[in-house]
Amino acid sequence: MQPEGKLGDIKDPGLTDEGIRLIQWAAREMPVTKLIKERFELEKPLKGLSVVACLHVTTETANLALALKAGGADISLCASNPLSTQDAVASALSIAYDIPTYAIKGEDDNTYYSHINTALDSSPNMTMDDGADVVATLHTTRQDKLSNVIGGTEETTTGVIRLRSMAQAGKLKYPIIAVNEADTKHMFDNRYGTGQSTLDGITRATNVLFAGKNLVVAGYGWCGRGVAMRARGMGAQVIVTEVNPVRALEASMDGHTVMKMEDAARVGDIFVTVTGGKHALDAHHFQVMKNDAVIANSGHFNIEINIDALEDAATEKKSVRPMVDQYIMADGRRINLLAEGRLVNLAAAEGHPSAVMDMSFANQALSAEYMAKNSQTLKPDVYDVPITLDQMVASLKLDAMGLRMDELSEEQAAYLAGWETGT
Ligand code: ADE
Repeated sequence: MQPEGKLGDIKDPGLTDEGIRLIQWAAREMPVTKLIKERFELEKPLKGLSVVACLHVTTETANLALALKAGGADISLCASNPLSTQDAVASALSIAYDIPTYAIKGEDDNTYYSHINTALDSSPNMTMDDGADVVATLHTTRQDKLSNVIGGTEETTTGVIRLRSMAQAGKLKYPIIAVNEADTKHMFDNRYGTGQSTLDGITRATNVLFAGKNLVVAGYGWCGRGVAMRARGMGAQVIVTEVNPVRALEASMDGHTVMKMEDAARVGDIFVTVTGGKHALDAHHFQVMKNDAVIANSGHFNIEINIDALEDAATEKKSVRPMVDQYIMADGRRINLLAEGRLVNLAAAEGHPSAVMDMSFANQALSAEYMAKNSQTLKPDVYDVPITLDQMVASLKLDAMGLRMDELSEEQAAYLAGWETGT
C-alpha cells in the first residue's frame, strides 16, 4: 500500500486541471485501453498488488495508470527519462487521481534516480519498466526490495536487450514479460509511433523543412524503418546506415540509400540515431559534418551520440532555441544537437500518438494481469506476450476502428492444416 497522502514529486500542482484535460483528450484515441479499464473495474485482477511503473510520464501513460488502478493496483509512477515528463500530467496523476508520481521535466540524473528509489520505497510486487532502470536498480542498490516482487513487464527494445543480458548471466531474479516483442507493440508503436513523433520532435525543435534534405537514419530496426518511411514521405532523401547486412539490404530494397556513417556524415543535413547502441555518431563523424548539420537521437538512451566527444571538439556551445544546443567547431562549422541527445520525440514533442500507445499499453495492462495470475509458474526469465493476448489487442483495435476481416471457412482451415493436397 502507498503511504497515505503521498503526493509524489511534481513540478507544479497548479497544472492539475490542464493535466486532467490532456489526459481526457488522449483517452479519446485509446479505446482498447478503455475497454480493458472497464473490465478491470469489474474484475479487479490486480487487487492488492503494489506496482512501480517507470514510464515516460505522458497523457497515454496516465490512461494506462488509471486502467491499472481500476484493476485494483496501488500504483506509483516515476519517469523513465529525465526529459520526457509532461509536468501537467504528473500533477494531475498525483493530485487528482491519487497516483503518486515522481517526475519533473528536466530533472538531473541524481533526481531521476532518487525518484526511482522513492517509488521503490513502496515495496512493489510488480514492476513496469521502459528501459529497465527499475529492474537494474532493484538488482543492484535496492536488493532490499527484491523479495516482494513477483514479476514485471518491459516496454522497449533497449530494456528487453538489457533484461536478456541479465537473464543470460543468471542475474535476473523474477520473470518479466517483454511487451516490446508483441506484434501489436513493435510493428505499430516502434514503426509508426517513432516515425511520426521523431519528425514531430525535430520539427518542433527546429522548424526545418525536410523536403530536399539528406536525412540520415542510423539503424534500420522497427524504429529506423518508421523514421525513414516518414522522412521520405516528407520529401527527404533518406540515407540508412546499418551494422546488420540483412537490414542494410532491406533498407536498400525499400528504396533508401545505404552507406557507411563515415560517408553519410559528409552529406547528411539531418541525422537521427535509432540503433539502441552506443556512439553511432562519434568524434570522427563530427569532424566531417556539413556546417549547420542537425543531429538528434530517438533511441532510448542518450548514448547513441557521443556528446562528450562533441563537447571536446567544440570551442563554444550556445543554446539557440529551446531544445537546440549549437556547438561551434574549431573550423567555425556549427553542429546543432537536439534535446541534449535524449529521445527527441518525447523531449521536444509529445512522444508517440495516443492511438498507437493504445495498443502498447493494452499489452502492458493485459501482461500485468497475466503476470498476476501466472507468476508462480514462471521462472526468472524474459517472456513474450502470450500470442492470444497480442491477437486480442489487434482484434479489439480493429473493432474500435470499425474494420472487419474475413474468417477461414472449415474447408479452408482444413486445407491449411493438412499436407495431402498438392497440384
Ligand atoms: N514512448 C513513446 N511515446 C510514448 C508516449 N506517448 N507515452 C508513453 N511512452 C511513450
